[in-house]
Amino acid sequence: MRTLIKNGHLIDPANKRNGNFDLLLSEGKVEAVEPKGKIKEAPGLELIDAKGLVVTPGFCDMHVHFREPGHEYKETIETGSQSAAAGGFTTVAVMPNTSPVNDNRSITELILSQAQQTAIVNILPIGAITKGLKGETLSDMGELKEAGCIGYSDDGRPVSDSEIMRRALEYSKMFDLPCIQHSEVLELTRGGSMNEGVVSTELGLKGMPTEAEDIMVHRDICLLPKTGGKLHVAHISSGGSVDLVRQAKAKGLPVTCEVAPHHFILTDEACRGYDTNAKMSPPLRTNSDLEMIKEGMKDGTIDIIATDHAPHDLVDKQVEFSKACFGIVGLETALPLTLKMVDEKVISLERAIEMLTSQPNKIFGLDKGSLEVGRVADIAIFDENKKYSIDPSKFKSRSKNSPFKDWKVRGKILRTLVNGKTVYKSH
Ligand code: DOR
Repeated sequence: MRTLIKNGHLIDPANKRNGNFDLLLSEGKVEAVEPKGKIKEAPGLELIDAKGLVVTPGFCDMHVHFREPGHEYKETIETGSQSAAAGGFTTVAVMPNTSPVNDNRSITELILSQAQQTAIVNILPIGAITKGLKGETLSDMGELKEAGCIGYSDDGRPVSDSEIMRRALEYSKMFDLPCIQHSEVLELTRGGSMNEGVVSTELGLKGMPTEAEDIMVHRDICLLPKTGGKLHVAHISSGGSVDLVRQAKAKGLPVTCEVAPHHFILTDEACRGYDTNAKMSPPLRTNSDLEMIKEGMKDGTIDIIATDHAPHDLVDKQVEFSKACFGIVGLETALPLTLKMVDEKVISLERAIEMLTSQPNKIFGLDKGSLEVGRVADIAIFDENKKYSIDPSKFKSRSKNSPFKDWKVRGKILRTLVNGKTVYKSH
């Protein structure tokens, strides 16, 4: 099957293309990329008219939580992959905090085999740094890589023990895969359910101070020069951490970081009214953090956008704020929220696409996120001007825990292709 995507505005940062190009796909790969009108239509060719639309490499989210195995009532690999496709994501990296934890070959293989049978996008497993995410014993990081893991993390929890983190970074160097840290000093956040500040005081909720994040980011950076390991800071949320990463990068240390859309859009003000959909870890911070996050996006300190898609059902969210689970779903709102940063002139549209495509692929050493001839045809097509209200009840995700209900946004994914085949089409 051959497909021609014509008349679109192609943005492919990996190949420095930003303009009117047509794409010819065949056998699941990119066969040709030519200026508009140069590729001739031929009988038997499937035509996709992308007039007025933006065509990009499929987005890549290096931080999602699908709940399989263990909590399939919140999300399965299948429903998570459908949510991803509806958000324009063609590749997602799944965190290991499943039940059982993905800390050994058999769980990685189970995830990959389930993905093979049910997923409509590429699923890349992340292996646990420590066994059972308990922070006590390193998992067999070599075995996890052999089984197909593309990075290591205890996300949901930090690796608190500095010696274990040091050894994990040494192994990460040896296996050339990043350690993705959930930066949180647990002694400082114990019992907390939102950012520590004026709002938490007013709401009478125990807070989680920004220092809890900053101290751990600083510690991990200190471990880099001698270990040489690759550190990737997950869901950066505090202004102090952005500064620390900026300084470390200036020294040439191998550190990268990601931001989730909720951390560049919302502040702890969203917790007023005790909306548990505004509860996540790390928590929503203050306006000054938000400004420093935006500065980090602007100057390139923040490398990528990752959603931290964390599905939870009503039973886990329709409870007192302090008892609710941490996390929100994010795959189906990432594009319109990112476009708000374009509207605010924090980043250009091209940089936004880079942060969702080629950058994550570069950091994780993957061969996706590029529409070079010969590459796999994983593609997102969206209408950047389409305005609508966010309606979580329509999400493909099995869970609907989003604080963005009824938000007026622009930017809608109309079609997503994986291996040259349409896996999602908006009606
Ligand atoms: O809010 C969060 N939810 N943060 C995490 O780090 C884990 C995640 C989850 O698994 O629900």
